[in-house]
Amino acid sequence: MMKGAKPNVVEAIGGTPIVKLNSLANEVDSDIYVKLEFMNPGGSTKDRIGAYMLDQAVKEGDLKPGGTIIEGTSGNTGVGLAMWAAVHKYKCIFVLADKQSQEKIDNLRAFGAKVVVCPTNVEPDDPRSYYSVSKRLAETIPNSFYVNQYDNIHNRNTHYNWTAPEMYEQTSGDFDVFMAGVGTGGTITGCGKYFKEKMPNVEIVGIDCEGSIIAHYKKTGEICEAKSYVLEGVGEDFIPGNYDFDVIDDFEVVGDKESFLMTRRLLKEEGIYAGGSAGAAICGALKYAKKQKTKKKILILLHDSGNRYASKIYNDDWMSDNGYLDASFNVQIKDVLNDIGKKGSIFTINDTSTIGQAIDIMDTNGVSQLPVINSAQEIVGLVAEKNLVKPVLMGEFAKDDNISLASTSKFQIVDQNELLETVAEALLKKEVALITENGKLKDILTEIDVLQYFSKKGNI
Ligand SMILES: Cc1ncc(COP(=O)(O)O)c(C=O)c1O
Repeated sequence: MMKGAKPNVVEAIGGTPIVKLNSLANEVDSDIYVKLEFMNPGGSTKDRIGAYMLDQAVKEGDLKPGGTIIEGTSGNTGVGLAMWAAVHKYKCIFVLADKQSQEKIDNLRAFGAKVVVCPTNVEPDDPRSYYSVSKRLAETIPNSFYVNQYDNIHNRNTHYNWTAPEMYEQTSGDFDVFMAGVGTGGTITGCGKYFKEKMPNVEIVGIDCEGSIIAHYKKTGEICEAKSYVLEGVGEDFIPGNYDFDVIDDFEVVGDKESFLMTRRLLKEEGIYAGGSAGAAICGALKYAKKQKTKKKILILLHDSGNRYASKIYNDDWMSDNGYLDASFNVQIKDVLNDIGKKGSIFTINDTSTIGQAIDIMDTNGVSQLPVINSAQEIVGLVAEKNLVKPVLMGEFAKDDNISLASTSKFQIVDQNELLETVAEALLKKEVALITENGKLKDILTEIDVLQYFSKKGNI
């Protein structure tokens, strides 16, 4: 053996670093630290449970030589199991829900595993669900072992015996709160139990996603109806056997969109390339930190790598097609006007006025555009400085000509409560947005206003 080398890749699992978040934590008093579990050789914390559960299965006689490992997995556990199986020479079959990213499916197939893809939106006890299919395969394939990370208690034991002691040793227990996204419940329960034994005052907070039933169950003791969500790895539509709610003090619940946007910020602002559940965990940690009266040291476990989401969260087309990317356009026009200090004073001109009068109004008031109003107070046109210059210079317009000769219809009328995205198209076509409040003309929103707004928000 070469000095310093590990005997195989499974032995290289663990020992991942903890780093401090800098700019993302600026908006709260508390300090936030993240455990980079994506630095495991298979790219996630699930490498640990894959190796640990299979070692235990061999020890307990559940997995015999030449056997087939079967698991229903969102991908990360599959990689952990497949890695162990490659080193120890076992076959694998994985059952995945069809919402999982193509990278995850391709990755498992590349390990030599067979992958069965099942529909996402069916009940867990539906025969097509990936839970049912995994169970059925395990019952019908001889010499097979169904790992069942949901109910296999060695999942949470992995984190109790390995991940949590590692973090405790790294930090000497110098943190107040531990947080992690929840799925099977293995991470939060295993780590939570260990930390509570060592640090009686530690708070254990799980991060669940909107649509999942876990946080609701902890708060009410009731199983509610699950709704669909896009985040992978977090949330469940049943209560897996790995949960011990006594070691979980509280939950924060986050949505798909905020989680995905945070995942991208994590990369852009902190240089940390992690998966969607990491963004979810950070959103949850910020929500939690904002409610605290005293400064806390928060430690979050980030489950997996950004690599597995290259075609989703890190793909602009996927993000915008699914309505996740345009957060900066999802602001009401009145907020844009407020933010850039526009007070809603607007100069107009009657449709009976002359071009000379329009030039005077523009000159006196320092404006470059005037909506043209008829006797019924309706907006019938728009006269803009830039449309007047050429015809006036060419002698086409005389001062006494009616304003209608110079007015255009290149404008859109929108209520101030509409979202900025409603006028985005118009502004791109160099049209002007006339903003109304209860049907009354209130202001003009121009290209420069929008640029000023984005610049103030730090988006450009
Ligand atoms: C990306 C990701 N995040 C979070 C989790 C949740 O961890 P646990 O199953 O230990 O509750 C998982 C589990 O599948 C996961 O794959």
